[in-house]
Amino acid sequence: MHLTKNEEKILNGEKGEVMERLFRLLVRLGDIYDADKMIPVGSVQVAGVSYKSIGDPGTDFLEDMASNNARVKVLTYLNPAGMDLENWKELGFPEDFAKNQLRIMDAFKKMGIVVTSTCTPYLAGNLPRFREHIAWSESSAVSFSNSVIGARTNREGGPSALAAAICGVTPNYGLHIWENRQPSFKIKVDANLEFNSDFGALGWYVGKQVKNKIPYFSGINNANTDQLKALGAAMAASGAVALYHVEGLTPEADLVKAKGLETINVGKKELNETYIKLNTGKNPDIVIFGCPHASLREISQVAEKLKGKRVKKPVWICTSRMVKEAAERMGYNEIIAKAGGSVVADTCMVVSPIEKMGYKTTGVNSGKAANYLPGFCKQEVCFANLDDLVEGQL
Ligand code: F3S
Repeated sequence: MHLTKNEEKILNGEKGEVMERLFRLLVRLGDIYDADKMIPVGSVQVAGVSYKSIGDPGTDFLEDMASNNARVKVLTYLNPAGMDLENWKELGFPEDFAKNQLRIMDAFKKMGIVVTSTCTPYLAGNLPRFREHIAWSESSAVSFSNSVIGARTNREGGPSALAAAICGVTPNYGLHIWENRQPSFKIKVDANLEFNSDFGALGWYVGKQVKNKIPYFSGINNANTDQLKALGAAMAASGAVALYHVEGLTPEADLVKAKGLETINVGKKELNETYIKLNTGKNPDIVIFGCPHASLREISQVAEKLKGKRVKKPVWICTSRMVKEAAERMGYNEIIAKAGGSVVADTCMVVSPIEKMGYKTTGVNSGKAANYLPGFCKQEVCFANLDDLVEGQL
């Protein structure tokens, strides 16, 4: 890989030990994937934030970096943490877990990272532009930024994202290169997609079929950004899909070569089968929306459904702190709280320790959450649309 004079200096330790260590990691990654050079990144999103995922070794590592003066060079956000960073007590998060989670946040803050924890940074003040190179980690955020925005990122691991944030560059390989953004499959959709969960079911099914490859959808005539984030998140979960194109909707769909591809047909039957497959439980003890983190529109939909009602069992909506504050101003949080629900910021159903909080069956409208809850949180899952899930808790 070609390195500039300045980069050689970093590698020789002239810019300090921390920079050398992290830059070395990026060079090794670049060598593995045959990158020709380093490219500057516009922003970074770091994963490995929840104490549940990184434990004591990860926390010690981050504290060590922070105390050794590691400081980020570009706008850097965080993936969801293991709890609501402000309301954790009220929501019942364990005290010792909270103590460690706050240590982690403190270390990130010292490094200059914006301590807002979300998998939808693009809804919370970190919006890349078309064709901008970025280094993001969380799989749904990677999918959305590549596909819906047309920015360029590989799916970074926690350490490589942190290294990109501190060095300001990433190796040029994979989805940073135009030739690698071409689709391998055409997905012909012939089904009525009404709810966000329909997009989640479609994504989950297609992810399983195309595994790791890039699909090109036709037949989706309309979809808002919430639905596209649901589609991408589910595909990322079931098939590690980091980029997709939708004819007429996503910015690179007109630019890529979509002729002569193997075609996969998806209709009502496949979607119904997916709903059945993702349902492993009945009668949820808790319903959690907001995977990926809810937009203001999604929170307003839940508020509308709960207005003047009272839930018998908990309903959470996970979102970013920024969106929660906007929802507060609109009065949505109050409506939801009056009905007995909670708008939960900074965390999500998968990275928070819900199994330790006594929940056994979780209702979700997200294909991604339905995919991970059984393994990560030992939950039975009820996968359904928002209307049915809210109805079931009343
Ligand atoms: Fe986000 Fe958690 Fe889902 S990180 S995409 S809400 S599993």
